[in-house]
Amino acid sequence: MCGIVGYVGLQSAGPILLEGLQRLEYRGYDSSGIAVVDRDGAIAVMKREGKLRTLQAAISEMPSGGTGIGHTRWATHGQPSDRNAHPHASSSGDVIVVQNGIVENYRELRAELQQQLDAEGRSWQSETDTEVIPELISRELAAGRSIESALGYAIGRLRGANAIAVVHRSQPDRIYAARTGSAGGIVIGYGDGEMFLASDLPALLPHTTTVYHLEDGDLAVVDSESLTIRRADREPYEPTPVQIDLDPVAIARGPYRHFMLKEIHEQPRALSDTIRGRARLDPPSALADDFDLPESTLRGIERVLVIGMGTSLHAAMIGRWWIEQIAGIPADFDNASEFRFRAPLLGPSTLVVAVTQSGETIDTLGAMNQVRERWGAPQVVITNVDGSEATRQADAAIIMRCGPEVGVASTKTFVASLASLYLLACRIGHAQGRLTDDDLTVQLEQLLTAPSLVERGIARAERCSEVAQRFSESSNFLVLGRGIEYALAMEAALKCKEISYVHAEGYAAGEMKHGPIALLDQGFPVIALAPRGPLFDKMTSAIQQVSARRAPVIAIGDEGDEELSDLVDHFIGVPPAPAPLTPFSLTPVIQLLAYQIALTRGLDIDQPRNLAKTVTVE
Ligand code: M6R
Repeated sequence: MCGIVGYVGLQSAGPILLEGLQRLEYRGYDSSGIAVVDRDGAIAVMKREGKLRTLQAAISEMPSGGTGIGHTRWATHGQPSDRNAHPHASSSGDVIVVQNGIVENYRELRAELQQQLDAEGRSWQSETDTEVIPELISRELAAGRSIESALGYAIGRLRGANAIAVVHRSQPDRIYAARTGSAGGIVIGYGDGEMFLASDLPALLPHTTTVYHLEDGDLAVVDSESLTIRRADREPYEPTPVQIDLDPVAIARGPYRHFMLKEIHEQPRALSDTIRGRARLDPPSALADDFDLPESTLRGIERVLVIGMGTSLHAAMIGRWWIEQIAGIPADFDNASEFRFRAPLLGPSTLVVAVTQSGETIDTLGAMNQVRERWGAPQVVITNVDGSEATRQADAAIIMRCGPEVGVASTKTFVASLASLYLLACRIGHAQGRLTDDDLTVQLEQLLTAPSLVERGIARAERCSEVAQRFSESSNFLVLGRGIEYALAMEAALKCKEISYVHAEGYAAGEMKHGPIALLDQGFPVIALAPRGPLFDKMTSAIQQVSARRAPVIAIGDEGDEELSDLVDHFIGVPPAPAPLTPFSLTPVIQLLAYQIALTRGLDIDQPRNLAKTVTVE
């Protein structure tokens, strides 16, 4: 949530910062801004409400400078406006800050600083929580502290998780940065006589693949040649950077109109990469190579709880189903933000599995933190970002190998997290002796067909487009599914809401007659997820109940299922899949339907309103 960038070197910082912000715009896009400092300490700040292009149009008027910081915002405190856009300055104008996170005690800090501002006849320039940070630093500087010390003091006063970058007039060749808690990362990139800073790797990749991820509690001093870390608990030191293996092409949109479409098409590859080497048939093994949870822990698990938010929660729902069916042990799922605050009961023999694409979602990290502190239960994270905060909190990680996902809507990471959960269910079942070698072979052989199921689902794009155009004006949808498809109904509804701005509800089909059926009439289309399987007849009963109320039915079922297609108004066929694998055949179609509706409506698919890719605030 919010993207921050920084540059210090011999080039003009402005254009580099702007390009970095373009690559982070998925993190927030309601306003943006840049501050540059020239060699003599003159500071110029430019900020604009709206998408980054409004800032881009204005930036030619900005003086150049070799040091700078920038920000793209997802508003938390104060509505989107020029005034509330970052960077924010101290009332003295000397200290400039960009921030990602929330200063939870900002009211208290504002009240404390207010007296001093009043006495000087100064006032706040924004409604943000951020502005207290430069003010705190500035006051401590005036009291005689060094910048590092003033920044350390200010950070120590903030409650909440925050990542910040700071420039100061008196140090025009330096950026200071700090990270506390899990407010999304800060990565420092090493160039040749220049250094970069960003919330996430995509902003750095055009410049360098040599990076260092700041850790919680790090206070960083960055100049054009080096990074020095200061921490309360040790002497200042220069950390050792790491090389990352990420192809800049992975973050280019290529020939696709939107990142979401590109990422939908990348799903077969993302799945194959995620499964590769982790589903072996001879002898059969699941997750044998790179999964660190000890065998004794796996054998002792009596219950599994899968947690996540949004799309990751829907993956968790499906994971619960597989863990029960494949591993044969009790399993449950929970919304991480609810789980945290209801004092749930866990024991050390419960395995907690956190699903989080970014590894930085604050609700999920908060839940993981609570699990560790209160129960010490073992935790596994399934994430796309190796080195993310969630990987640091968990005992073991399954890293999806999707490459960066740029579209705000989760697509390829949804199917990859499903494959990871399936592998985990196999591994637990095998470790506990509930799956014999032969059983495991059958399960893994099934999983190995998943990339092709997804590929064949994607091939239905044209049919999805026809149906989407027919219903692009509808304001409501009910999406029905049963069993494993209930979670997919929820995911389909989420996709419709987030990118098509269509009100959609995902329901267990059996629940429909207990209330939602009252909504139905000719103008209320129903999407029915109805592949052949044990609950098919129950689904067709629900479809008939819908049709009896004259609501149009769009069924997604097995290719060639004439009984189903005769029953409904519109039919989209997907490759038939064995019952546990239907999520792989159905997912591309539900994604493409939402995508096509949004396209027909002319919406901003990769940057839907009010959203951000990584939610690092509560
Ligand atoms: O990074 P995470 O998987 O933890 O993110 C959780 C949700 O914010 C995320 O799945 C969100 O619902 C999707 N972007 C929706 O497509």
